[in-house]
Amino acid sequence: MFEGTSLRRVMEEKMVEPSRRTMFLGGTAWAFAVLGPSKVRAQGSERASLPIPSELRADAARTIKLNARTDTMRFLGGRDTATYGINGPYLGPALRLRRGETVTVQVTNNVPENITMHWHGLIVPGAADGGPHQAIAPGKWWKTELSIDQPAATLWFHPHYYPSTAQQVIKGLAGLLIVDDEETDRLPMPSRWGVDDIPLIIQDRRFTADGQFFDRMNVIAVTNGYVGDTVLVNGAHYPEAHTARGWIRLRILNGSNARSYRLGSSDERSLYVIGSDGGLLERPVELKRLLIHVGERFEVLVDARNGRAFDIVTLPVTQDIMRLPPFDSPLPLVTIRPDAADGTGQLPSSLAALPVLPQQLPTVSQEIVMNMFRDMQGMMPLKQAGLAAMVQSGKTDPEVVARVVDLIVKDPALSEADQLSSNGVNGKPFSIVRIDFSAARNQDLHWRISEGSDLMLHPVHIHGCQFRIVSQEGKPPEPERAGWKDTAPISKGGVSEILVRFSHAANRDDPYMAHCHILEHEDSGMMAQFVV
Ligand code: C2O
Ligand code: CU
Ligand code: CU
Repeated sequence: MFEGTSLRRVMEEKMVEPSRRTMFLGGTAWAFAVLGPSKVRAQGSERASLPIPSELRADAARTIKLNARTDTMRFLGGRDTATYGINGPYLGPALRLRRGETVTVQVTNNVPENITMHWHGLIVPGAADGGPHQAIAPGKWWKTELSIDQPAATLWFHPHYYPSTAQQVIKGLAGLLIVDDEETDRLPMPSRWGVDDIPLIIQDRRFTADGQFFDRMNVIAVTNGYVGDTVLVNGAHYPEAHTARGWIRLRILNGSNARSYRLGSSDERSLYVIGSDGGLLERPVELKRLLIHVGERFEVLVDARNGRAFDIVTLPVTQDIMRLPPFDSPLPLVTIRPDAADGTGQLPSSLAALPVLPQQLPTVSQEIVMNMFRDMQGMMPLKQAGLAAMVQSGKTDPEVVARVVDLIVKDPALSEADQLSSNGVNGKPFSIVRIDFSAARNQDLHWRISEGSDLMLHPVHIHGCQFRIVSQEGKPPEPERAGWKDTAPISKGGVSEILVRFSHAANRDDPYMAHCHILEHEDSGMMAQFVV
């Protein structure tokens, strides 16, 4: 199953000597032996099977009903974790909507706090968008009409109540929203839900000693974002999926609060990226490593015609704090066992026609700058704890790790006033009563997204549109980010330039949002609102 050379390649990438970790082959798949206190819980002999969210289509009355509610779940053995879920105990169903249809969605709030429900990536007017202005009080419901007019894509939904989005997503409020259309139906791709068309919602979590989701908005969180030590895929820890033997389509959502993943397969089989946030690419992009930031989605085909099991793994990323164990080594997220009946899906050589970008771009009509006002305060203690030096040395030092984890877990929460003034856009922390800018409707607009002096990663998301990245740090975007996008990453002082068009209105009462999708940044001011 596992080949020594590819293992070596994987291990070398992270500069940790292979002997530090033991690999073993369990059954037909292999797994990493895991070290460290946080991973002991992962050592159960029984593997969970990958939960597949049920598909939910509009009923005969063209209505979809969502119910946000409380529950408990057992994620890692004995303890009940208090959760939120939508029509279930954790996460939500996969909404399936077709281009051309109009549905009424009714969201009932049965959790004990205000929520909203936002359709991330769906092109709908501000009043239907479910942003921070469309609060649903506990016990109440919100109804909106969604007219679907955009290409087939894997989108998602989650609450957007300011400033508690991070906390509500941690508890479990999120789900997939899949748009289908005829062009995509015509392609001979794997499309049997849960058989060869497999959703993967990737989220990192940390648990408290009594088994609850860890969540604390301290200065470490508002600067670095949420740092989990366990990955859940569709709400299960390192689950396995039995799939068709054939081409498998993975619809990957990075539904984490802050963590980026560098995905690969355990046996170095290629990932063929076929779609980005807002729909199919022109043609598949073959990759060994796929970097996915929070809020982003990629659809990927993998060749499992040989029937052999493999893992989707994540490899260390560049942010120091995100390399704490177990993310300092290749970490398996989910096992795919292609041992069911043969699949018939194929990898098409061409996928979709995308509009050609104009040679001459309009002049920049909007600058959007992400600001961090407490980045020094958040970074200094990490430096003092020895984090940067440890990452540079390439050797994980348990004492440094313990000091950093202490900061993450024990540093006191900020007061709400301090939290809300920690980050900003264009120099100002978010204010729900201030409209920050306006955008012309039905016009190609050239926007420039950048950051202040902080050099941190910010996956910047814009409501009400699917845009194209025209340049990233002055260069064309990676081919997997050259299609429809609603989230553009910037880091290391970089700049993303986008071409965007808004086809709907968003007025002062229901403006659109532009924000960093690191939810701890969003909830601490790194969001702006605009009208169209
Ligand atoms: Cu996925 Cu403004 O959000
Ligand atoms: Cu959104
Ligand atoms: Cu950010």
